[in-house]
Amino acid sequence: MNETIQTLMNRKSVRKFTDQSVSDDTKQIVLEAAMHAPSAGAMMLYSIIEVEDQALKDILADSCDHQPFIATAPWLLLFIADYQRWFDYYKVSNAPALCAEFGRVPRTPQEGDFLLACMDTLIAAQNAVIAAEALGLGSCYIGDIVEHYEQIRDLFRLPRYAAPIVLLCFGYPTEDQKNRKPVERFDKKYIVHKNQYPSFSDQDLLNMFPKEDIIPNNPLGRLPQGQRNYIRKFTADFSIEMSRSVREMLKNWQQTNPNS
Ligand SMILES: Cc1cc2nc3c(=O)[nH]c(=O)nc-3n(C[C@H](O)[C@H](O)[C@H](O)COP(=O)(O)O)c2cc1C
Repeated sequence: MNETIQTLMNRKSVRKFTDQSVSDDTKQIVLEAAMHAPSAGAMMLYSIIEVEDQALKDILADSCDHQPFIATAPWLLLFIADYQRWFDYYKVSNAPALCAEFGRVPRTPQEGDFLLACMDTLIAAQNAVIAAEALGLGSCYIGDIVEHYEQIRDLFRLPRYAAPIVLLCFGYPTEDQKNRKPVERFDKKYIVHKNQYPSFSDQDLLNMFPKEDIIPNNPLGRLPQGQRNYIRKFTADFSIEMSRSVREMLKNWQQTNPNS
């Protein structure tokens, strides 16, 4: 099989790392690969913060829904959707003053800009993941970074139009992580469609997880996946916090008064 395809197919999230540190050369290649990702208008609407301070790592391990392995990752990258840099650039370029001449209305970054910056950010992050994988370096996304927005904003001194989107943990996988069973994907018929969104029958949906997957010694472990996920994730405290936090983050981008 083609080497790139093989890299994509073999990737698994890694949550236990050996003591081997990540060399500066490797870090630079991964960062360069991230920065070579496609980007809307080539604006690179993101910033990447390398989190090196162990005290910060410890805080993230707690704030990101108590995941201790985050503190043990040899290399952490925080990906930020960043319109601040461009907005400041517009201002310093005196661009808003041109609006009258061109019949435009000055504005601040808004919801569409937020989403575009998120797209750029995540595509860059995934480039970093695949570059790392190609170099034998494992990774794991942490979506819980969008919780506790106010705390993360203050910790990393994020300005108004810089939103934390994803945290990536990197490190060399332990043998047992290398041998871990891959997480199965849904059948393609649930994911890939032609021309229109499909309508699924109740039975189609119930068959989405074809095998019963019992987790021993877990109070939710005997529940079917649809029930287990709803309790374990969808209605869990961390999910509620995630939405609260993102609502707070979005307030920054919903202000239409350019002077605010
Ligand atoms: C947006 C996003 C957020 C994620 N957040 C977490 C997380 O907070 N903690 C974690 O251990 N894994 C996290 N993961 C990893 C997923 O659990 C993992 O990708 C999924 O179970 C599939 O397994 P695989 O990556 O090994 O194929 C996240 C993945 C994505 C894409």
